[in-house]
Amino acid sequence: MTSIDAQPRGEVAGDGTLAFPPGFVWGTATAAYQVEGAAGEDGRTPSIWDTFSHRQGATVDGDTGDVAADHYHRYPEDVALMGSLGVRAYRFSISWSRVAPGGGPGENARGLEYYSRLVDALLEQGIRPVVTLYHWDLPQELEDAGGWSVRDTAERLAELAALVARRLGDRVDLWTTLNEPWCSAFLGYGSGGHAPGRTEPAAALAAAHHLLLGHGLAAAALRAELPATAQVSITLNLAAVRSREASAADLDARRRVDGLANRLFLDPVMLGRYPADVIADTAHVSDWSFVHASDERTIAAPIDLLGVNYYAPTMVAAWDGHEPRGQADGHSRSLRGSAWPGCEHIQFLEQPGPRTAMGWPIDATGLTDILLRLKREHPGLPVMITENGAAFDDRIDGGERIHDPDRVRYLRDHLAAVHTAIVEGADVRGYFLWSLLDNFEWAYGYSRRFGIVYVDFPTQRRLPKDSAHWYRDVALTNALPPPG
Ligand code: FCB
Repeated sequence: MTSIDAQPRGEVAGDGTLAFPPGFVWGTATAAYQVEGAAGEDGRTPSIWDTFSHRQGATVDGDTGDVAADHYHRYPEDVALMGSLGVRAYRFSISWSRVAPGGGPGENARGLEYYSRLVDALLEQGIRPVVTLYHWDLPQELEDAGGWSVRDTAERLAELAALVARRLGDRVDLWTTLNEPWCSAFLGYGSGGHAPGRTEPAAALAAAHHLLLGHGLAAAALRAELPATAQVSITLNLAAVRSREASAADLDARRRVDGLANRLFLDPVMLGRYPADVIADTAHVSDWSFVHASDERTIAAPIDLLGVNYYAPTMVAAWDGHEPRGQADGHSRSLRGSAWPGCEHIQFLEQPGPRTAMGWPIDATGLTDILLRLKREHPGLPVMITENGAAFDDRIDGGERIHDPDRVRYLRDHLAAVHTAIVEGADVRGYFLWSLLDNFEWAYGYSRRFGIVYVDFPTQRRLPKDSAHWYRDVALTNALPPPG
């Protein structure tokens, strides 16, 4: 019997091997500020992360991205490494202040030239370049003018999109406007644990809207510059939100967190309207007058693909305190402000079981849940896993090897979770492992290692970990071997 569904599904072989659909994309991901370094070179001006990381106490050990993994200079070596690891796609982001110092309008030929050379090097190795326009590093001058809390920043993002598309659009066919706008808005302007470090709940809501508006405007700008075959996407860090109990209070806690983490972004992008319950939940914080008449239509510019980043599920319950309690976001070290306006009477619960070095619970079922939810609620929307991976305390042993069995287990479990979703009908087109290299993990600096390639920061020497060799076999065979 032939299937009426033309979409190729994953298969499970008799020995337990999980085969992925033909053409499934195997990639790795990085972000400009986390790997490039060369902070003051070739005309680049400071971003909010330069300013923030240089602020006393903002990052572990005062670490900054000044040098990072020196990818700006070492990209030829890193691209060759990717080639040898069987990686067939590379998701990287554009440092805005490198290509448009000060946020524009002028462009910097040397900055654009760097990305052009990177793209050429990738294509020479048969690696598909995937561009993220904005991965959190707003030019400082734009922040000084109000940052994401003001509307103008959305227009500036569209200018960046046009600029970069004009330079790279002949060779890059997959584009992402934003990485995880929830983090930009609610960690940057709410909890203050990320740059620019503001703790203004009303500004955080405005930032979420202006980021989304920027997405819509940038998507249109990309379409205007790119060939019709190019694909445009946005990457969201969707949360698999679970409640402690099925009580009305706990379910309401779940609804609120789901609203702010997921529907606040998915609904306008996919349906062209903000969720009414989120607007009501946050009415004491903001009147939402920053949303103008046609904005929601602009935000709903059609996308070809949704990027999903997943690390861990979220468990919530009601509580009677006045500020959210517990680990309210995975990234920030201190929670001076709240990342969750409208979620005051909520606690984020510690989940039992194993954790990564970030303290994040290891539970791959959340990834399957998210993918099947997208299939159910937004049928016909292809998905790409644009980030997934784990930090562990990696050490070089005497034999110059890095054994990272915990990471291999994490990756295996999460890829199996993706496979399960594919078998159940989710349209997942590929997987980008976070990360190619150990890098500057935001507020945690270099104290957390996410790479499948170890970076010895004092010497900048690269050493593939066991997980890199394991991932190579997965990518080359397009299949996950049975465990053990
Ligand atoms: C994601 C970020 C990425 C990295 C991973 C660990 O939220 O997009 O830059 O920090 O977490």
